[in-house]
Amino acid sequence: MTQVPTIEKNLQTLEQAALTLEPSPSERSFIQTSVETYAQSFLTELETLPAYVEHPAMGGGLLESPLSEEPLPVQQALALLKEHVDTPGLNPASGGHLGYIPGGGLYYAALGDYLAAVSNRYAGLFYSAPGAVRMENMLIRWMAEIIGFPKDAVGNLASGGSIATLIALATARDAQKITARMIPDAVVYMSAHAHHCLDKALRIAGLGDCPVREIPMDAHFKLQPDALAQAIEQDLAAGLTPWLVIATAGTTDVGAVDPLPELAEIARQHQLWFHVDAAYGGFFALAPAGKQKLKGIELADSVVMDPHKGLFIPYGLGAVLIKDRDQLAKTHHYQANYMQDTLSATEEASPADLSPELSKHFRGLRLWLPLKLHGVAAFRSALEEKLLLAQYAFQKLRQMPGFEAPVVPELSVVLFRYLPSENNNVDHFNQELIKAIQLDGRVFLSSTKVDGHFMLRIAILSFRTHKATIDLCLTLLQQKAQDLELTRQK
Ligand SMILES: Cc1ncc(COP(=O)(O)O)c(C=O)c1O
Repeated sequence: MTQVPTIEKNLQTLEQAALTLEPSPSERSFIQTSVETYAQSFLTELETLPAYVEHPAMGGGLLESPLSEEPLPVQQALALLKEHVDTPGLNPASGGHLGYIPGGGLYYAALGDYLAAVSNRYAGLFYSAPGAVRMENMLIRWMAEIIGFPKDAVGNLASGGSIATLIALATARDAQKITARMIPDAVVYMSAHAHHCLDKALRIAGLGDCPVREIPMDAHFKLQPDALAQAIEQDLAAGLTPWLVIATAGTTDVGAVDPLPELAEIARQHQLWFHVDAAYGGFFALAPAGKQKLKGIELADSVVMDPHKGLFIPYGLGAVLIKDRDQLAKTHHYQANYMQDTLSATEEASPADLSPELSKHFRGLRLWLPLKLHGVAAFRSALEEKLLLAQYAFQKLRQMPGFEAPVVPELSVVLFRYLPSENNNVDHFNQELIKAIQLDGRVFLSSTKVDGHFMLRIAILSFRTHKATIDLCLTLLQQKAQDLELTRQK
């Protein structure tokens, strides 16, 4: 009898054990059916599920099921998911999510993710996955067209607005030739309502010591062009180096769009990089009413717009668009001996050359599939509906006794608060009001501080939010405000 060498014997044993990672067709089908049943019941129940669940354990029960050497039956795994992950906290899939900037969760996007994960196409390089890269670049060109960017603009599908912003600002830094030595004098301009991811991106890009001028806003919370021009002139006179103007097309706090044409013109006059954060507002350009509001966005050097906001895709998809193709590549390209085979395939730009990522999720499929299966018109209508719902909510709030809505919503965020009959502690009353709404859970609202006042917001962007949701929200606000008034009078 021939002796099987030890190494081969070991390989046989290990292979048998490792083979469990490749389920058989019947095992796959069983698990798939269980998972799909879970997903379907989540979606069916969604209408009656709360938008927010306050849960004392905060998902802590999950930790009582530690990872183990042994497999767990799928039903038990799904039960853990339901109880500890999908129940406590905010339910972003709910149409009742009217806080922060609501996310989406299109079902066909989930299927796109599933297919992307099954095939595991390597979408970082054109050489490796030409079709996947073509798809992602096609989506970027489509977005560029929506906002009126030139056909040869480039970009990247990133994990979200924050990373997309980092890519934009790193590119801007290099385009403006801001070196380490210049940073203490290199001035950035934005309003107090610019999203905090801009500040974060500046810090991560090594620009944290750049002076940042907070340019005043007008009564509609829009950055004032005159004040910007003046600040730039002052900095130039002081021998500083202005280099970056940041505008927002849809602020998170109130949904305001800064005066883009005027700001672009000032940036152009001084040859500064003009970045527009349209992470929230950008896709409203698909709707005729929104396009009008975003006029001037096409004049930007870089734009961030998030499909996981304005196109209702599940979290994990932001986009950056940049006109200067060469600069985006110069800032992000890389070289490695082991990648030399890929260099010949240059017909399409590779995401790995245009972003910090090398291995990346094939994000394009989660956007391409729903766009293909629904058609763009459905998105246009949904966005138009969101804009109109905001006007509806605003008009209703203005008619509701005790409520104050100080600004006409420009996009789909409605700012408001309640002015109680005993007007001595308005902020505290509104804190109590939002707590009562969150405790009820049927809709979720978040708050902000504007001009030092505690304000509430209705942010409308979920594709599942319709008129009935807004009516429910307004009824709850009236009821809870009345209840609070009554308890105060006791
Ligand atoms: C205007 C704006 N910019 C940027 C961001 C950051 O995007 P993300 O959360 O995708 O990183 C947000 C998030 O809400 C936003 O509203």
